[in-house]
Amino acid sequence: MPRFYTPGRIIFGYNTFKDALEDCDTIVTSSSIKEKLEVYKDKAIEFKRSSKTGEPLEDDIYNLRDILVDSNPKCIAAVGGGSVIDATKLAIILMHSNLSLEDFYTKGIPRIENKPYLIGIETTAGTGTGVSAAAVVIDKDGIKHGLVSETLICDKAVYDPSLVISMSREVTAYSGMDALTHAIEAYTSTIDNLPADTMALKAIELAGKNILDAVNGDEKSREMMHYANMMAAFGFANSRLGMCHALSHKIGGRFNIPHGKINAILLPYIIYFNSKDTDRYNDIASVLGLKDVKDIIKWLIKLNEEIGIPLSLSILGDEFYEMIPQIAMETEKDALMKTNPRKAEKEDIEKLLREAYERELITST
Ligand SMILES: [Fe+2]
Repeated sequence: MPRFYTPGRIIFGYNTFKDALEDCDTIVTSSSIKEKLEVYKDKAIEFKRSSKTGEPLEDDIYNLRDILVDSNPKCIAAVGGGSVIDATKLAIILMHSNLSLEDFYTKGIPRIENKPYLIGIETTAGTGTGVSAAAVVIDKDGIKHGLVSETLICDKAVYDPSLVISMSREVTAYSGMDALTHAIEAYTSTIDNLPADTMALKAIELAGKNILDAVNGDEKSREMMHYANMMAAFGFANSRLGMCHALSHKIGGRFNIPHGKINAILLPYIIYFNSKDTDRYNDIASVLGLKDVKDIIKWLIKLNEEIGIPLSLSILGDEFYEMIPQIAMETEKDALMKTNPRKAEKEDIEKLLREAYERELITST
């Protein structure tokens, strides 16, 4: 049965996040955000991340769980990028079950009654985790697990543009490309969900119009990218993602490359591969003011160049090239491949990765 999952309430607009903090007895945040919380600082627990790419490691989440058990919160506001909110979602489930993260990977996320009320307040414009039913964690081998469950949806999500106005150029570029990838993968996934697809297509249009100016510091464009991120998350929370995320989850943690950056590098190659089996890129071209899928690929390559994202996987070096068969084998079995619009065997994925390493697509378009 088609369903459209959302948090209980979405609040968006300037100066909305401090009102949300009033209602909570506990705030989980990063050290840099904690300084901006002013009178609410006393309620704040600092979430400590130990990975270079920012995504939470298993031990980071267990440490947060232990702190939260001691404070026994009734309402938690998780304020930060994807890692802070994802870690808080998972720490809450760990607090209220006798399971481990390993159990979550193999058995899924259990339903929990009477857990604390969770408010997700995103301070970057990319992960969409305030809206989504997903949380990401990196295991001991550097493999990223994207966990999905209705239990992981926040009770309330807040999108306050004042939080993304001062992001660095680099974070704006990476998080914006992640949001754009979410929207494109959701719209082209094998799951047809009318409200989710509508949100995803509008997110593509908003991101397409605003990402370059947002990276260059324009405030209105940064606000629009924050909303594009929110709407892309409505899309992927309900229509799921595809091969770009299946691959980026296998590569990002292993090679310490930010999630949005690796998605941005892969995306033109993925679109080229998928376009043989779906005509949905025609709608995407239309909302971007482009002619066809070839134009989308050219536009993405130019955009990556302008915002400082490399055009090939060669930045990962020989170690990556030698690991291509292993990554392809793992990706073929990834759950997100089921919703990718084109079926891909291990050999197809290997070929795609070699082309992305050697920039074959770039030189032929
Ligand atoms: Fe993503």
